[in-house]
Amino acid sequence: MPKDIQGRFPSFSRIIAGVMNWGTWGAKLSKAEMATLISQCVENGITTFDHADIYGGYTTEAEFGKALKQSAVKREKIQLISKCGICYPCKDRPEYTIKHYNTSRDHIIKSVDRTLQNLKTDYLDLLLLHRPSPLMFAEEIADTLQSLKEMGKVRSFGVSNFNPGQADLILSKYPIVANQVEASLLHLDPFFNGCIDHCQCNELLPLIWSPLAGGKLFHDQDNPEIENKKQRLLAVCNKYDWTLTEASYLFLLHHPYTLYPVVGSSKIDRIKMAKAALDKSLTDSQWFELLEAARGYKVA
Ligand SMILES: NC(=O)c1ccc[n+]([C@@H]2O[C@H](COP(=O)([O-])OP(=O)(O)OC[C@H]3O[C@@H](n4cnc5c(N)ncnc54)[C@H](OP(=O)(O)O)[C@@H]3O)[C@@H](O)[C@H]2O)c1
Repeated sequence: MPKDIQGRFPSFSRIIAGVMNWGTWGAKLSKAEMATLISQCVENGITTFDHADIYGGYTTEAEFGKALKQSAVKREKIQLISKCGICYPCKDRPEYTIKHYNTSRDHIIKSVDRTLQNLKTDYLDLLLLHRPSPLMFAEEIADTLQSLKEMGKVRSFGVSNFNPGQADLILSKYPIVANQVEASLLHLDPFFNGCIDHCQCNELLPLIWSPLAGGKLFHDQDNPEIENKKQRLLAVCNKYDWTLTEASYLFLLHHPYTLYPVVGSSKIDRIKMAKAALDKSLTDSQWFELLEAARGYKVA
């Protein structure tokens, strides 16, 4: 555990439940099913839930909010993360004529207000700017985040999918605390493009989306490149008696800077597999065996 990293944040659970696939973009859980899943996550120590305003075409936050009310789970026992900034044309947003980003004050404030209303809460534990916009203006963003903080609507702020330079731009004006990036055995970029290094340098919480590559590890047999990687990874898994799921989580959890996987399954047994991986460990050599299998070549 990096020095004091948890002390600086609301205590997020090490395994975070990603809610993107719970609603109409995935499992289409009913209110009762969602309430059960929320309770099961909490019973298993997974108390942090990752949302975005756009999930389900702007419908999943509200479904989760209703399910949370129906469950016996108390708001103060969980942590809610959400994101804003992507404007996605869909049935609920006919005013958007093109997919685009908006990081203006007006948009961020309106989006947070809607998220709070949908989630039936009066604060978010963490708000992330979902994607870096080529038109973002750091001073306006910083001023907006400060206002949201002073209003008590958001406790901490971060970014998502920002490269180090983009994150530095925001950090130059506001003390953000997290960067949520994609990483998995099929997406190794953050280990090499400076994103995780940048989190360490700035003591940002590294949240990891799509830890199982969005399921591509399991059902993309028609893609020969992925299939080859999978076969090489399975050879390593067989050697150490790991499942592919287990190896995927162990690979991320091994990093000494303490990465926080945002798990996308809508099934409690699969979510629990991420938690179970916390009880196991890898050696550095095994980590490099997985890296070599994932890339198909040895390190230089
Ligand atoms: N910041 C961003 O830009 C961004 C982007 C994307 C996602 N996210 C966040 O990250 C979270 C996780 O993303 P993700 O959903 O791509 O994560 P993931 O955990 O890599 O993938 C989850 C998908 O894999 C499937 N899956 C899991 N285990 C499986 C198995 N053994 N066999 C077959 N399929 C399996 C799941 O299906 P089942 O539901 O059937 O288990 C689900 O469809 C999201 O919920 C969201 O909160 C953030």
